[in-house]
Amino acid sequence: MGIRINFSGRSIRYTEDEIATVVEAMRHAEPLTQGHYMHSFEQKFADFQGVAQGSCFTTMNGCAALEMSAQLCNFSEGDEFVIPSHTFTASCYPYIKKGGRPVWADIDLRTRVVTAESIERVLTKNTKAVVVVHLYGYAADMPEIAELCKQKGLLLIEDTAQAIGCEVAGKRAGSFGDMAIFSFHSHKNLTTLGEGGMLYVRDPDLQKLVPMLRHNGHCDYSFDRPDYWKPAMGNVDMPILDGRMLMPANLCLGEIECALGAKMLERIETINAEKRKRALAFIDGLADFPELEFHREATSRHNYHLLVCRMTSGPEKRDRFIRRMHDDKGIKCVVQYIPLNRYDFYRKLGFGSAHCPNADTFFDSMISFPFQHWLSDEDFDYMLEASKDVLRSLN
Ligand SMILES: Cc1ncc(COP(=O)(O)O)c(C=O)c1O
Repeated sequence: MGIRINFSGRSIRYTEDEIATVVEAMRHAEPLTQGHYMHSFEQKFADFQGVAQGSCFTTMNGCAALEMSAQLCNFSEGDEFVIPSHTFTASCYPYIKKGGRPVWADIDLRTRVVTAESIERVLTKNTKAVVVVHLYGYAADMPEIAELCKQKGLLLIEDTAQAIGCEVAGKRAGSFGDMAIFSFHSHKNLTTLGEGGMLYVRDPDLQKLVPMLRHNGHCDYSFDRPDYWKPAMGNVDMPILDGRMLMPANLCLGEIECALGAKMLERIETINAEKRKRALAFIDGLADFPELEFHREATSRHNYHLLVCRMTSGPEKRDRFIRRMHDDKGIKCVVQYIPLNRYDFYRKLGFGSAHCPNADTFFDSMISFPFQHWLSDEDFDYMLEASKDVLRSLN
């Protein structure tokens, strides 16, 4: 049969209000980048996160925010960073580009994110930073991980690309670390027309570098100028960070996306709660089939950006399940996040070996269900019943 429920590349539909916000910004924004809407989005985002004003910076996507955070780590020869092997590639390679060596940490098989214990196990005297990824929209145990990083003097970066709005111990994911990144990509619970991102930087001295890093090294002249046009409109410079000059790029997010991002902050918690409610209904609806092992979390610690489970009876049955869902029911489930050490890219760089048995076990029998926010109730119910049917027929 044809596909009835696709694994969509689009997470949400916009409301008329959100569309009107975009149209308004299209009409009135001046300039069309780095103007009033950018400042407003950054301020509202800082409030939403409960972090200091001036610490949040919009970027053209999550990867751009990761690239800047990697620069601010200022790695030296031999420095290592700890990162889960089970994550999206952009969580990792920007830190390699800036001279860090990845050391793979395992995930917890139930929560699918790293723990203080799995991080501590792989620390060495060369570890400089830890990148925690709140994968699938579940916030890792940040109080414990932050305490560990503090004790060991390590930089802590949170990849919050999938976990906007999640809370742990009364604080937002992405507000515990020295830095955090967010993504507003098309797949995410909050998307700014397909691309967009945010960088959070806690240290006020590092915050000062971000506007220059983000925009070609542009800055003001440090002296009074009698004529505003001389020697030119603005200067280009880059302060030295620990003896090293950073290289800038242009990583800005446009005004229209910023206007929409600020507007969407009003709805993100509703979207998260709606996705969570559905995820729980799906998980509970399949309670008679314990061989599908979901991670059930009824609090705002999980935003169920994605709805994933593990087929405990193994990869062969997982494959039969996905095939039957596709061929007989027209539902496209997928498999995501190959442990990075298993990609050719990381192997060729010499980072091909890892001891992450949970990551391997989870990935080898994982299933990711279509879980776009705009799935109709009818299709959602159909997917639940279809899953039961297929599971029954496989047994
Ligand atoms: C965990 C994770 N990190 C980083 C990124 C990169 O974000 P972007 O696609 O906005 O560059 C993504 C998403 O795409 C992601 O899921």
